[in-house]
Order: sequence, then C-alpha cells, then structure tokens
Amino acid sequence: MLTDSDTRALGRTGIRVLPLGIGTNKWRGADRAAVGETYRTVIAAGPCMIDTAEVYRSERVVGDCLRADPGPALTATKFAPLPGRTSPRRLMRGLDASLARLGVRAVDLYYVHFPLPWVDVRVFGDGLIEAVKSGKARAVGVANFGAEQMRRIADHLARSGIPLAANQVHYSLLKRKAESNGVLDACRELDVALVAYFPLASGRLTRQSEHDRTRALLTLLAEIARAHDASISQVALNWLLARDPHVIPIPGATKPQHAKANLASLSWRLSEAEFDAIDRASADRR
Ligand SMILES: NC(=O)c1ccc[n+]([C@@H]2O[C@H](COP(=O)([O-])OP(=O)(O)OC[C@H]3O[C@@H](n4cnc5c(N)ncnc54)[C@H](OP(=O)(O)O)[C@@H]3O)[C@@H](O)[C@H]2O)c1
Repeated sequence: MLTDSDTRALGRTGIRVLPLGIGTNKWRGADRAAVGETYRTVIAAGPCMIDTAEVYRSERVVGDCLRADPGPALTATKFAPLPGRTSPRRLMRGLDASLARLGVRAVDLYYVHFPLPWVDVRVFGDGLIEAVKSGKARAVGVANFGAEQMRRIADHLARSGIPLAANQVHYSLLKRKAESNGVLDACRELDVALVAYFPLASGRLTRQSEHDRTRALLTLLAEIARAHDASISQVALNWLLARDPHVIPIPGATKPQHAKANLASLSWRLSEAEFDAIDRASADRR
C-alpha cells in the first residue's frame, strides 16, 4: 500500500503519481517484447506516469500496453501546436486523435508541447479548459514554457477553476537552467509539478566519461553510487528528486532492466553532504 510519501502531487490537481515517470519517445522503434516488459515493470511499482506525445508516434505502442493491462498507469500526452494548429478546436481534434491511438476515453494529463511566441498562451489555455470540461483530460499542463508564460496560462486556467498541473522542461545535472530562469521558482510558488525530461541527459548520466566537461562530475557520481551499492543513473535521479518535491523526472527506458534500476533509486536517499557535493560539482551547469 503506497502512502503520500511514496508519491508526488501533480500540482493542485489532487492526482498523485510515483516520483519517477517513464518517457516513451523511443518506444515506437524499440523491441516490442522489451517495451511490454518495461511497461509491466513500472506499473507494478504503482501509479507511474507514462509520458508520450503525438509527435513521438509512440501513442499506439502505449495504447497496446494499456489494453493489455491498464493497471495503475497514468497517461500523459501532448498537443503539438504547429503553425496552423493554434486554435482550441485544433487542440481538441488533436486530443481526440490521441485518445483514439491510446484507446482510452480520457488521458490523465494533457500538455501543450511548446509555446509559440506569436500566439497568446490564453488561446491554448482555452483549449486546455475545454479538454478538462469535456472530461477528455483529468488534468492539463504545458511543456517548455518559460516562467512568465507559465504564470499567464496558470492565471487563465485558474479563472475557470482549473489548476495548471505541470510544466515539463529539460532538467538534469547537466542542464540546470530551470533553476536560474525562474521556472523552478514559479513551480514552487504556483504549486505546479516540474516534470523533468532528459533527466539522464539522454544516457550521458548513466556511465563514467572521459569527456573533459563531465569527467569530474561523473567520477563523483560513481563514487557516491559505490557507497550506496547503486548506479550512476540512480544517483543522478536521486539528486533531482532531492532538489525539490515538485520535481518528477521521467527517464526514458526501452529495457525493463533500465526501468527497474531507475525505480530502485526510490528506495534510498542521498545524504545532505552528498547532495551538496554533487551540487557544487555540477554548479557550472546551472
Ligand atoms: N517535452 C519535451 O519537449 C520533451 C523533449 C524530449 C524528451 N521528452 C520526454 O522525456 C523522456 C526522457 O528523455 P530521453 O528518453 O530522450 O532521455 P533520458 O531519460 O535522459 O535518457 C534515456 C536514455 O538513457 C538510457 N537509460 C535509462 N535508464 C538507464 C539506466 N538505468 N541505465 C543505463 N541506461 C539507462 C535509455 O536506454 P534504453 O532506451 O536502452 O532503456 C535511453 O537511451 C522522453 O522519453 C520523453 O517522454 C520530452
């Protein structure tokens, strides 16, 4: 039985998820049996957020997994606001097509995948409001939004009584911009989840490196990993989890052993001294 401390809040939506989700942007081209096993591994752990998007072309693969066993999975997908697809009506059409591919009546979280500088975020806000009111999305979020854009859309949604659940942004020990550009602060202030994509820097934070710019950090991660009988990737994920309770990393994995290893990072914690040492070693990446 999971308690509140085993899960994290998706903003103020009332929805709670495992502190680690899983990214599926490589599921389409991957070995199907391995992907199926990967999916079963994460849902066996609890309400894992399965992250997809219409542009990843992995929604059908995720749909196959859900059809085989929905379990406690939470499904998150994204609308791509490409030029010419910028009205609430187009967003709802995009959502309907995603629901058909996923084979579900509603998604748990529906994001706008990125902002378009020339389109007022309230236009997307109206689409997201309709997504919730129609019952086709339990919660809504944005991805790759700056702090100001996030505040504006959160304010617009709030006028309809809908909380902004999440902002999904690039965040890892090698990419700490969310800490300096106001996004992490805005997530704290507005109580919005910061869903971290590329949390393993596309695999660079899973193994030691001879690269000058990352060698020292990865050597430190390896030392700390050894002390916990853990792996470098577990240390990298644990650091993000310890950074702030709003952070929910979504490491991508197509292999069950990778998903299992990542979930194992939830069973131990970094000491304060270890957290600080990693913080200093990656500080130039802020
Ligand atoms: N919102 C956006 O604009 C946006 C943009 C990009 C990505 N995303 C989302 O973020 C997710 C994560 O991104 P990502 O998958 O590209 O990068 P990532 O999570 O930083 O790294 C994934 C890579 O690390 C490997 N890996 C995972 N766990 C491992 C472990 N324990 N040991 C060794 N290797 C391990 C994976 O290998 P295997 O595949 O072999 O298991 C894969 O090659 C995506 O799937 C997607 O859902 C969102």
